Amino acid sequence: MPIHVSTHPLSAHLLANLRDTSTDPQTFRRSAKILSTILALESTQHLPVAEGEVQTPLEITKSTKLGAPLAVIPILRAGLSMLEPFLELFPDVAVGYVGLERDEKTAKASSYYCKLPNLAGKVAIVVDPMLATGGSASQAIKLVKAESPHSVILVTVVAAPEGVAKMEEDHPEIPVYTAALDRELNDKKYILPGLGDYGDRLFGTL
Ligand code: PRP
Ligand code: URA
Repeated sequence: MPIHVSTHPLSAHLLANLRDTSTDPQTFRRSAKILSTILALESTQHLPVAEGEVQTPLEITKSTKLGAPLAVIPILRAGLSMLEPFLELFPDVAVGYVGLERDEKTAKASSYYCKLPNLAGKVAIVVDPMLATGGSASQAIKLVKAESPHSVILVTVVAAPEGVAKMEEDHPEIPVYTAALDRELNDKKYILPGLGDYGDRLFGTL
């Protein structure tokens, strides 16, 4: 399974803001948004394209346009922070939602909501900032795959080796784009060094 870790210096700078425990919620949300924009660009660099022609004011020339419809599927809640950057870059995307919440004791994710658009023939981009055990992403991707998309991409902000291994086992063909591959999970299945609970820091529910 290909894993792509962003090497852009701005990604590293914004990630440092997200990791910093003294970052206020406003800076956290702004950093999360810009970092998601970078990841949205990097994760879509191999999208299918369609070659054609375009009439400029002077002559006809070759053109390249996006060649497959897209769908973005944030995993609620924290994935919502990554939706707007995709909508700004790709205004025509269809949007689906998968609601998953980890049990605080077992860290097992259970589903409380799923509303997906027709995914047949679409490139489905699943977004969730934290890939910890990988349980949430793997479950969401299983639901997405059942709708016969053209292909699936996973975009996260921080990935743990355990989550990457889970993806490798369950969905080896799916590329994962992230801003960081961290060291490990702690005994509560939080990513180390990580950035804490993304959803709580984003929505102020600490
Ligand atoms: C967080 C995060 C991921 C999940 C990752 O969500 O946003 O969805 O944990 O963990 P996993 O890889 O071990 O499944 P959480 O369940 O805390 O819900 P929230 O987004 O509503 O805060
Ligand atoms: N979810 C988070 O928000 N943070 C972690 O470190 C793990 C799961």
